[in-house]
Amino acid sequence: MKVLLLVLFSCFIFYSCISQKEVDLKQNHTVNISNCDDSVVTYQSTVVNILQRECYSCHSGGNSVLLNTYQDLKSYIDAGSFKGSLNHDAGFNPMPSSSYKVNDCDLKKINKWLNNGAFNN
Ligand code: HEC
Repeated sequence: MKVLLLVLFSCFIFYSCISQKEVDLKQNHTVNISNCDDSVVTYQSTVVNILQRECYSCHSGGNSVLLNTYQDLKSYIDAGSFKGSLNHDAGFNPMPSSSYKVNDCDLKKINKWLNNGAFNN
């Protein structure tokens, strides 16, 4: 009887560990928009970090569309294509790709910076 209880107990512990791992993995991939802190958004501290992670691989250096300086980025902002591409709006090339959009929190921050005037701050 004791052995049976011990086996059952071990199974339970093992199972708990596995299901906890699944939950952790799922949480890594979901961005909870209600926890998104967009109280202070600036070009230097917010926008550059996101673009570095999501866009510079194709839009810096010798590529035809450059987004890695404020001046270069600003021309696409003024043309409307930066916002349109980033938000996957109809009529624009979806970026970073048609099947991948930057996460909701990053989108919220960049859109707020754009709406605030897209300053070089
Ligand atoms: C895997 C490569 C890749 C990544 C990553 C990528 N882009 Fe692009 N992007 C392209 C290509 C290719 C073009 C078309 C370039 C051309 O015409 O020379 C383009 C064009 C653009 C344009 C010009 C608009 C237009 O309609 O031509 C904008 C704005 C843009 N991308 C924004 C972004 C932003 C913002 C990100 C990051 C969130 C991003 N891209 C990430 C490949 C990429």
